[in-house]
Amino acid sequence: MNQTRFRWASAIAALVMFFVRALPLHAQSVESRIDQLVSQMTLEEKIGLVHADSKFATAGVPRLGIPRLWMSDGPEGVREEIETNGWRPTGRTDDFSTWMPADLGLAATFDPDLAREYGAVIGQEAKARGKHIMLGPSLNIQRTPLNGRNFEYMGEDPWLTSRMAVGFIRGEQAQGIASCAKHFAANNQETDRGTIDVEMDERTLREIYLPAFRASVQEAGVLCVMGAYNKFRGQHCCENDYLLNKILKGEWGFKGIVISDWGGAHNTKAAALNGLDLEMGTRGPYEDYFLANPFRDAIEKGEIPVSALDDKVRRHLRVMAAIGLLDGASWSEGGELDTPRHQAAARDIEEEAMVLLKNAGNLLPLNSAKINSIAVIGENAERRFAHAGGSAEIKSLYEVPGLQGLIQRAGPNVNISFSMGYSREKNDDQMIAQAVAAAKVADVAVVFAGLPHDWYYDTEGSDRHDLKLPFGQDELIRRVAEANPKTIVVLIDGGAVEMPWLDHVGAVVEAWYPGMEGGNAIADVLFGDVNPSGKLPCTFPKQLSDSPAHAMGSFPGKNGVERYDEGLLVGYRWFDAKNIEPLFPFGFGLSYTQFDYSNLELFPEDGSDGHEVWVKCTVANIGSCAGAEVVQLYVSQAHPSLPRPPKELKGFARIKLEAGEHGDVWIPLDRSAFAFYDPARGWVAEKDDFTIEVGSSSRDIRLTKTWSRAETSVQK
Ligand code: GLC
Repeated sequence: MNQTRFRWASAIAALVMFFVRALPLHAQSVESRIDQLVSQMTLEEKIGLVHADSKFATAGVPRLGIPRLWMSDGPEGVREEIETNGWRPTGRTDDFSTWMPADLGLAATFDPDLAREYGAVIGQEAKARGKHIMLGPSLNIQRTPLNGRNFEYMGEDPWLTSRMAVGFIRGEQAQGIASCAKHFAANNQETDRGTIDVEMDERTLREIYLPAFRASVQEAGVLCVMGAYNKFRGQHCCENDYLLNKILKGEWGFKGIVISDWGGAHNTKAAALNGLDLEMGTRGPYEDYFLANPFRDAIEKGEIPVSALDDKVRRHLRVMAAIGLLDGASWSEGGELDTPRHQAAARDIEEEAMVLLKNAGNLLPLNSAKINSIAVIGENAERRFAHAGGSAEIKSLYEVPGLQGLIQRAGPNVNISFSMGYSREKNDDQMIAQAVAAAKVADVAVVFAGLPHDWYYDTEGSDRHDLKLPFGQDELIRRVAEANPKTIVVLIDGGAVEMPWLDHVGAVVEAWYPGMEGGNAIADVLFGDVNPSGKLPCTFPKQLSDSPAHAMGSFPGKNGVERYDEGLLVGYRWFDAKNIEPLFPFGFGLSYTQFDYSNLELFPEDGSDGHEVWVKCTVANIGSCAGAEVVQLYVSQAHPSLPRPPKELKGFARIKLEAGEHGDVWIPLDRSAFAFYDPARGWVAEKDDFTIEVGSSSRDIRLTKTWSRAETSVQK
């Protein structure tokens, strides 16, 4: 371009920029508005955005109409207000919230639409409580059944966790707040969580531990991601160039903010250059945070380019723009807190979350017209659980424990006795004897067993020591069942437990931590108002040593390093590959009715709608009452060029059917359902035969067909 023309072009460009800058904020594109704000901010104001100035907030820039960002935990509801110094609750009376069932229970519904409703409830309550960012969902894969936070994660399978995560985030962010997928990545234990250095091969990372985060970013558009406490391949996750810059922001195109876990930042230069955008929870004064004055000083000395700060600021402003914080409109409009609608949602979700593990002789459902007496036994029949578990805790307006739910549902004509039987603080033979005596004279006995949801038992900061029921519960259940064979065990816990008494009891229901309406939902299922349809999102092993992280001896790590030696063989993948019989397999769950599968058909697609093949089968309700079935679809490859697990969940669908009714289930598979990750090539879907299996659990396959892929394709 010659000199004259260059001058003209420059003049025109300057004129255009003048008018663009002069336009009011809302009329410009988001990026140009953001550029304008960044150009108007001082260095101090930019620094003020990228670190906390309170326990759960960052400074805004009032001069430019940039508000403070308020955030709150967590994955099961909006946490109560916490004091700025320390972690004590403030004791306010306006910060109650709806306590939703544990996220592991939500996963047991295998219902992404329900996950969306779950996320919507929390998003509406966050709006009402003035929270812009909600710190959830928690998406770490269940690698060991001992992890203290398994209750707030969504199980052992990446496909199930991904589908539930996308539903949850879409529901929550639709309310005008930002979700925060956590903890990125490989935070699969609480033991030494701040220092453990996780080592795993690239396939395991890509195929098991990253998919839920990738789906959160690329399908749900999650606006925030929280860096995990642990290290990954030698670098803390909150300052990890490979995870944050290369994968999350580079490969996946994440444009939101990476928030540190509280105290997860450790170094100014690493945090500034390796992808951290917001430092929270570091010890000491806010101005001394790694991304506070030290960051400013490093920029002023020319040690770190200001562009690194500007990128972070842009990300903050992008998230603010996405939730309407830069529009000047009153963000806090809308929202809904502690309403009957939300409480009903908590009940509905728990009803779908419960998993019927055993029902000998159709002991369940109970018929309140024929039952005259019920002996309710166990501390967990009365215990409250909302305000437990660590950062996922909720100050719930109320909780309906199991005993109360049963009393309310059974009505005045059923005599309900209560015996403690065991408690966290005290358990002895006398308590057992009292429970046994009560069981002996009652029509049925209902033992509420499980864990207390506190230190060493399903809580953040510690892992369980074993899978045993503590406080003498096994002996209690055995003796109660001896006294009354019509004994029902309701498990209130956050995951797998050993059940040495299983052959002696009539029925077992896994109710997880059941949410504030738990007792009512449990009563609905025990009395048959609701037919249970939940499926296990994690394997229940017969013994801990059968689980991969324990069979390989790698948990909880040696010399500060945790090697995921089991690789891809997490959960049922391991039990299948090693031919180990679990106590209850992944995907298992009984119903009060029975389902028959037939007519499995494959319908090839040309891929134009993204699908390679549609899988259809017919499900018939051949039992005597309405119910819902979760059809699971597993895929296995005949001759993979790299080793693969025996089968992997790649699709599922719920279908509700009246007694005698049948219906078709359609499940789409795209190329990713057949692909594996090859570090040398990327995602490879090979020309080969694949077995398509559909069934009622990972070990109850009803129909199979072979799908022959005609060519190999590779995607980066
Ligand atoms: C905790 C948790 C994280 C939570 C944060 C704030 O340490 O790991 O999940 O959001 O701190 O409470």
